[in-house]
Amino acid sequence: MATYLVTGVAGFIGSSIAHELLRQGHNVRGVDNFITGKKENIAEFAGRLDFLEMDICDLAGMQRVCRGVDYVFHEAALASVPRSVKDPISSNDSNVTGTLNILVAARDAGVKRVVYAASSSAYGDTPTLPKREDMLPNPISPYAVSKLAGEHYMASFYRVYGLETVSLRYFNVFGPRQAADSPYSGVLAKFITLMLEGRQATIFGDGEQSRDFTYIDNVVQANLRACGAPAAAVAGRMFNIALGTRFTLNQTFAALKKIIGYNGNAAYGPEREGDVKHSQADITEARRQFGFDPKVSFEEGLDKTVAWYRTQMTQAEPATVR
Ligand code: UD1
Repeated sequence: MATYLVTGVAGFIGSSIAHELLRQGHNVRGVDNFITGKKENIAEFAGRLDFLEMDICDLAGMQRVCRGVDYVFHEAALASVPRSVKDPISSNDSNVTGTLNILVAARDAGVKRVVYAASSSAYGDTPTLPKREDMLPNPISPYAVSKLAGEHYMASFYRVYGLETVSLRYFNVFGPRQAADSPYSGVLAKFITLMLEGRQATIFGDGEQSRDFTYIDNVVQANLRACGAPAAAVAGRMFNIALGTRFTLNQTFAALKKIIGYNGNAAYGPEREGDVKHSQADITEARRQFGFDPKVSFEEGLDKTVAWYRTQMTQAEPATVR
């Protein structure tokens, strides 16, 4: 049976991948430093996940962790555009140095393949939509630069050392377990929790910016298929992972109002620094090369996500009252 390592296993995407791997009966090892990951996200795996609290910036630690591992899903990162604008050094440490450490450790341990969480932010604000993998990157924020650097390291390790790597450029992933409690949280996690609490969400800018919001199950599927695909189809390459549609923030807010039954309106604030105006993916290559088939629509994903946050809040209520 194969052994998988998930970095950032206590994060939103890492824990979702680990969940599916464990459901399929695989051996799963996970690392997290809990800077943005949460113990609750891995609590349900207790006893089944081989968990180590570690930072990917610790090269010797990563070398120990990679021993005996067949496949790595590298999801650990300091996400968020505004976080990187505020503190580019920390984003660089985790996203660039941390990624390089994983690659060195995976190479030395004879890992068969590393699948990497790359980001749609690499495309920046170029006007052509949808974004295709052969377009030139144009990163705006330090976050985008750091994630793109990681992609280049992935490709380099395939070309130079023959380590099979695949970069998946995620487009605005959302769903259950996404943290909602930080100023750097993804917009959907923030909006849904605020609206469920009857509070007001703030749209930065005019709300006409658009995103290819991608439900988590589609991203998990992409990771597993990219990991299992023939090397000739994927090794050393980068693929868009998205739904292939886009919605403006105004449309998204209106859709959430309906699902949640919220009567208020959004507030509008200044546009965010480093923000991209429009984002939408062409997912033809991922379909062609490894049969990526996103099954969960935006609307269905919103329904499932709202239902999950609702359950979390009802479960949390008695404790708060006491
Ligand atoms: C970017 C990347 C995405 C990556 C993510 C990691 C792009 C197109 N996408 O997401 O692939 O996974 O970073 O963090 O670069 N907003 C509000 N109000 C809020 C919060 C956000 O209006 O309270 C707006 C933002 O200004 C932005 C949009 O919502 O226009 C989405 O923001 P966010 O969820 O932070 O993700 P991106 O920065 O788009």
